[in-house]
Parts: sequence; structure tokens; C-alpha cells
Amino acid sequence: MNEITPAAEHHYDGPGALPVADVPHKARLTDTDPQAARRAERQVTFMFILAILLFIAFIVAYIAVDKNTVVYIPVFGEVGASTMLLGLTLGLGAFLIGAAAIQWAKKLMPDVEVVQERHEMASPESADHEALDAYTRGKTESGFAQYKMIRRTLIGAMALFPIPLVVILRDLWVTPPGSPGPATILSHTLWRKGSRIVVDGTYQPLKASDLPVGGMISAVPADLPAVEDATGNLDARGKAAIVVVRMAPNEIVSQQGTNWDYQGILAFSKICTHAGCPISLYEQRTHHLLCPCHQSTFDLADGGAVVFGPAARPMPQLPIGVDAEGYLVAQADFAVPIGPSFWERG
Ligand code: FES
Repeated sequence: MNEITPAAEHHYDGPGALPVADVPHKARLTDTDPQAARRAERQVTFMFILAILLFIAFIVAYIAVDKNTVVYIPVFGEVGASTMLLGLTLGLGAFLIGAAAIQWAKKLMPDVEVVQERHEMASPESADHEALDAYTRGKTESGFAQYKMIRRTLIGAMALFPIPLVVILRDLWVTPPGSPGPATILSHTLWRKGSRIVVDGTYQPLKASDLPVGGMISAVPADLPAVEDATGNLDARGKAAIVVVRMAPNEIVSQQGTNWDYQGILAFSKICTHAGCPISLYEQRTHHLLCPCHQSTFDLADGGAVVFGPAARPMPQLPIGVDAEGYLVAQADFAVPIGPSFWERG
């Protein structure tokens, strides 16, 4: 049963005094001083008014500020003026509503203390005895204590039981005799020296001039459609899919090999190294590639390094160049297996 007692009259005389009953209630300044209460009222009102003005400013900023205007803020660098103003006005407005509500509750709402009486939490002694009796009876009737051989062999069998489960997991990939094992299959993709990089979907070959600085495009090897027609499955696509990005050459901090870019154009696998989700969320200002599944984030300007999230390995980079006609091509296959880790991976 809950008993709500007005603060000024609160007392509790019951046996086994509750902690709250032992602490004399302290009245707040706003309970005893009408001026302090009015001051708190003005503070809360002021914060709500400020929140109203910020929300109006949000609408004005949304309509009036050009989405392409960029301003320079020390420490943060160049930021979009519209994004910054929308974030500031909305964030501050929401903060002020919260702060005003807290101030209102703490200073002006009724100050009461609540006593909740609870029954004894421990079981009665008779229940303990009943449980012990049931356990002893079960032990005797099952013969667990009596038949030592059975008991020991049962423990041995239970200890070995997880081993077949591990072997079954290990055996999920069945390799037909004579075919390469999973390590070989998963470590190679369709990319090889001279494979043309074509746009995924249209299969148009790409030239460096097709990709502006800051651009990103999903691509595959030119011979992928023929392989898919022949095999009737998407396995090759699942391994060979890449993202091609372009940045100013001086923005490249590191690569996974020497000169693996072409004039600032870099190619990376688009299969997340965490659990294999395909990724094409690219933020050109930070050069970050963000996986939508569990938010692993890779810095493509820094050799595909993981900067956030559960992925444990960098995004594999594909070395690229151009052929005699100026089309982008792979210089070789990936140097490391793409995608998530697997049992046989070294
Ligand atoms: S699959 Fe990309 S973060 Fe998990």
C-alpha cells in the first residue's frame, strides 16, 4: 500500500522505522519564501519563452539560409551554415524545455515523500525445508548418489557433448573433392590485373574524368555479368563489389600499398569486415565509409582504417590504375580476403 504524506506533516511511527521516517523533512526555499517561488516561476517561464523563440528561429533558418553556404568555425573547420543553425536552434530549444521542466518539478511542484510498505522478502523457514526435502528426495529416487559408475560416465558424456557441436559448426562449408577449400575461394575475387572497373548497374567503364573530387560510385569488374550468367548466382558479385571514391591526392594520409590510387581515386571493397553488410554510405568531407548494420566506420583516406564500431580489420583496398585507353582498371586482386573473418583465415 502506498501512503502519500504531505511534506510538512510527514512522520512514520511504525515498527522497524524506514530510513525516510528517520530523516526530518526539509522544506524548500520556494515552499517558505513566496519571493523565491516567484523567482523560480520567472526562470521556468523565461526558459519556455526562449525555447519558443529558438523554434521560430529554426523555421526562419530553414527557409532563409542557403543549404550550400559554408562557414568556418575554429576547431570544427568548415561546416554547413544551414545544418549548424538548424542543429543549434533545435538542440537548444529541446534542452531548454527539459531544463525548464526539471526546474519546475524541483522548485514548484508539491514536495511530498512516499512510503511504500513491503512484505518480508525472505521465504519462510518452512519453504526452505520443503525445497531441501524435494532436492534430497530427487537425489535418492534418481539414484544419482547411489550409482557411482552412472554418475561418473554421465559427467564424462556431458563434458564431451559440446565437441560434436563445434565440429558441426566447423563443417558448415562442405568442399567437394578436388575443389579449392574455403580459404582459397574466399581469398580470391574476380579482380585481376587489367580488369576494367565498370559502374554497378549500367556496366559502363569508368574514366578518371567521370569521377569528380568528393564523388563516390559503386562498381564491379567488367566481366561480372558474364560470370553471373554462367553460374546463375551472385557469389562473384558478393566478393568483387567495390566503392570507388575520389579525393584530392594531398588528402590521402595512407594506403594499403604504394601508389594504389590513381590521381586521388581509390577503390575499396564494399563488404563490411565485421559481418559482411554491403556499404555505400560515404561522407565525402571526412572520407568515412559507414556501415548501416552496426555502424562500423572506415577512414578511406587512411588506408580504410576502422575508426569506430565492431569491425576488427580495415576495409581491403583494391590497387588501381588506367589502361592504354584511359579507363580505370585493377592492378591486381585484393591483397587480403574481403568481408568478415572466417575459420580458415590466416
Ligand atoms: S556488418 Fe558492418 S558493422 Fe556489422
